[in-house]
Amino acid sequence: MKILTVVGARPQFIKAAAVSNIIRKHHSEILVHTGQHYDENMSKVFFEELNIPKPDYNLGVGSGSHGKQTGTMLIKLEEVYEKEKPDFVLVYGDTNSTLAGALCASKLLIPVAHVEAGLRSFNMEMPEEQNRVLTDHISNILFVPTKSAEKNLKDEGIKKGVYNVGDVMFDAILNFKKLARSRSEIIEELDLEGKEYILTTIHRAENTDHIDKLSNIVGALNECGKTVVLPLHPRTRKYMLNYGLEFSENVKVTDPVGYLEMINLEMNSQKIVTDSGGVQKEAFFMRKPCITMREETEWVETVENGWNKIVGTDREKILDAVLNFIPSREQKNIFGDGSASSKILEILDKR
Ligand code: UD1
Ligand code: UDP
Repeated sequence: MKILTVVGARPQFIKAAAVSNIIRKHHSEILVHTGQHYDENMSKVFFEELNIPKPDYNLGVGSGSHGKQTGTMLIKLEEVYEKEKPDFVLVYGDTNSTLAGALCASKLLIPVAHVEAGLRSFNMEMPEEQNRVLTDHISNILFVPTKSAEKNLKDEGIKKGVYNVGDVMFDAILNFKKLARSRSEIIEELDLEGKEYILTTIHRAENTDHIDKLSNIVGALNECGKTVVLPLHPRTRKYMLNYGLEFSENVKVTDPVGYLEMINLEMNSQKIVTDSGGVQKEAFFMRKPCITMREETEWVETVENGWNKIVGTDREKILDAVLNFIPSREQKNIFGDGSASSKILEILDKR
């Protein structure tokens, strides 16, 4: 079977690292990078560190408005699909690359498989929610990571082709944890050995694109009285400059780091404060208290289980959680057993 996989943004490279190498044992895979993320530390580092096969195509789409970015992807993907004639198109997550990959296939009547289907924030103002809902409704095979994702699809009338396989990011952590411990020197480089610190990431458009929200977040981190480590997403760096916002000395700002470095930073942290989807899950995998600077989350089980606290962007709420939040319960198994990628392969084989 010929499977064409579309990736484009950082979290998709990590998910593909778990799935592609397994798929390639049995099938031929054409890997297409849309070029949505293109800085070395947002793209190349993952392919190198995680041994992801070199993309067969890099469409070089780059940054732009939603319409321009997604539209350019559609035009370029169509040429590749027409040439390669895949049996399946595989997409991950909820970015503009996901939607373009799925929509282009659907129009050409090529079956679409969506990994990380069924997630919902029920906030249609998020570009990610628009991408997820649309992608799910044109997908033929929907690999959901959690029970709540399965239920979300059922509530929208999607019942056929839905498989709860667990979370491929859990596979990725299990695959790469050991390598991260032995290879990454980030803890020494940032002089963090034996020190308590909060690990933070910020990049969600609903936070970065509003000066009041970003100011609150920056203010809370500056005032929390703890060492904060912040690998800064380029989007956030751009908006910080535009708004004239600055971090104080307790916040160690770095460029985005590779996945192995990130795993190490997570493993050694005291708490994680984030607005990322993937990092919320990784906090759970690492048994670290997570504080989520959003009004809602798609990863509801982490909250129900007492390991994730939703605080929005209120400065006092962030500060209070950074200082006082302690998970209340033992962890339940939410994300499967770390064999999501093999299950995906089995199901694709049967189809
Ligand atoms: C995208 C996804 C988001 C995902 C995130 C992962 C969409 C709509 N959003 O958000 O769901 O959580 O990726 O990180 O698809 N930039 C660079 N270099 C890069 C990439 C981006 O400088 O390599 C800057 C550009 O100024 C760009 C901005 O970051 O305009 C935003 O990039 P974009 O890919 O549009 O969205 P993300 O915020 O990265
Ligand atoms: N990540 C990374 N380096 C960083 C920040 C994040 O490797 O500097 C990883 C992180 O460990 C997780 C993934 O990127 O696996 C999450 O991606 P991101 O937060 O960009 O997007 P989201 O998951 O919110 O879509």
